[in-house]
Amino acid sequence: MKDYLVILLGPPGAGKGTQAKRLAAKLQVPQLSTGDMLRDARAAGSELGKQVAAIMDAGKLVSDDIVIALIDDKLGRDITKNGAIFDGFPRTTGQADALDKLLAARGRKLSATVLMDVPDAEVVRRNSGRRTCVKCQHTYHLEFAPPKVAGTCDFDGSELIQRPDDRPEKIQARLDAYHRDTAPLIDYYDRKGLLRRVDGVGPQDEVFARLASALEAT
Ligand code: AP5
Repeated sequence: MKDYLVILLGPPGAGKGTQAKRLAAKLQVPQLSTGDMLRDARAAGSELGKQVAAIMDAGKLVSDDIVIALIDDKLGRDITKNGAIFDGFPRTTGQADALDKLLAARGRKLSATVLMDVPDAEVVRRNSGRRTCVKCQHTYHLEFAPPKVAGTCDFDGSELIQRPDDRPEKIQARLDAYHRDTAPLIDYYDRKGLLRRVDGVGPQDEVFARLASALEAT
């Protein structure tokens, strides 16, 4: 069985989560979103959730140690034995180095890193129009991917909310963190020969087709 270990890299709102779900279903491997894991911890009211809440709401990155431990735990589980789609991780070179070590210790290696290229102006449009289901965390967009009934999740009928970090001033803070801390990973993975670039602008089906085609050779 092939071990698909794919990173989706890109600015906040590039569509990493949207496409990671589709790719995970196609490849039959789990989506590992550190953002979702941290939001789950907050929803559960755990110590970890309390520790990261203010940092996330400000649009800043939580510490490397925290997210590396979350990924280490998932890689130790049976569910990831045939691979995983990393969504929103790694986000710093420290996290990327740690991921290399975690995989090497298990005799595994990355298949590819896909950069989803989306300009800053589009990032702002996407994040400001995003609405998320409070229960299943499915994401919608008021303009590009609206729910059938306004304010209600198509899948479980729960309320749709705006993430606190999707308010305009927080979107800019997340973009700044991306350009400062995460964009250096583009060169990092390019030097390793693992980088694939995909235009992330266009209908979601078209972006997915580009993504699948970029991964064909892996
Ligand atoms: P996280 O949840 O990872 O947020 P993010 O990287 O900012 O990414 P998003 O979830 O906002 O966007 P996305 O690229 O998944 O886009 P989506 O598919 O939703 O992290 C949140 C916070 O947690 C961070 O700020 C940080 O504090 C912390 N954190 C998480 N991981 C961390 C780490 N590794 N290290 C440190 N801190 C960490 O799409 C966005 C919108 O666009 C949706 O409305 C969607 O419907 C729409 N859309 C999608 N595709 C298209 C398309 N093709 N055309 C038009 N609209 C589209």
